Amino acid sequence: MKLSWLESPESTVNDDELARIGVLHERLEVDPENYQPAMDRLMAARGYVTQDIIQLMPETPGLDQLCDKFKDEHLHTDDEVRFVLAGSGVFDLRSADDRWLRAEVEAGDLLVVPAGLYHRFFLTDERQIRCVRLFKDSSGWTPVYRDAS
Ligand code: LAC
Ligand code: NI
Repeated sequence: MKLSWLESPESTVNDDELARIGVLHERLEVDPENYQPAMDRLMAARGYVTQDIIQLMPETPGLDQLCDKFKDEHLHTDDEVRFVLAGSGVFDLRSADDRWLRAEVEAGDLLVVPAGLYHRFFLTDERQIRCVRLFKDSSGWTPVYRDAS
């Protein structure tokens, strides 16, 4: 994962900055074909109860509309848990002082955006990502947009 301040793309920020806003990042050295034991451990440790896979790629029907939903600043009432299996993506996360921390994730990155933290998401130029998602309550996972008019 590459972490920087959006306003200074050359900056290198360490994971302490994520810890300050309650974001968990870990590199999980797991076989992409056999990630389930690691997900099971995470579910047991953090209280997630359901799991699915999200895959976005250029051929995905309605890809642009889906990306439009993620690109505006929003939060969820449940944690947003993503373990990246393939591809890449960009999460912008609101820092404590309301700046954007930019986290570029790739295969092997686990990112937990805590409930209530404003964020947004974009694909990278390759336009594909495949992630495991974990939920405490899938019904709690609906975007709440900031400054919704
Ligand atoms: C989501 C992301 C991508 O809400 O923020 O699924
Ligand atoms: Ni989200």
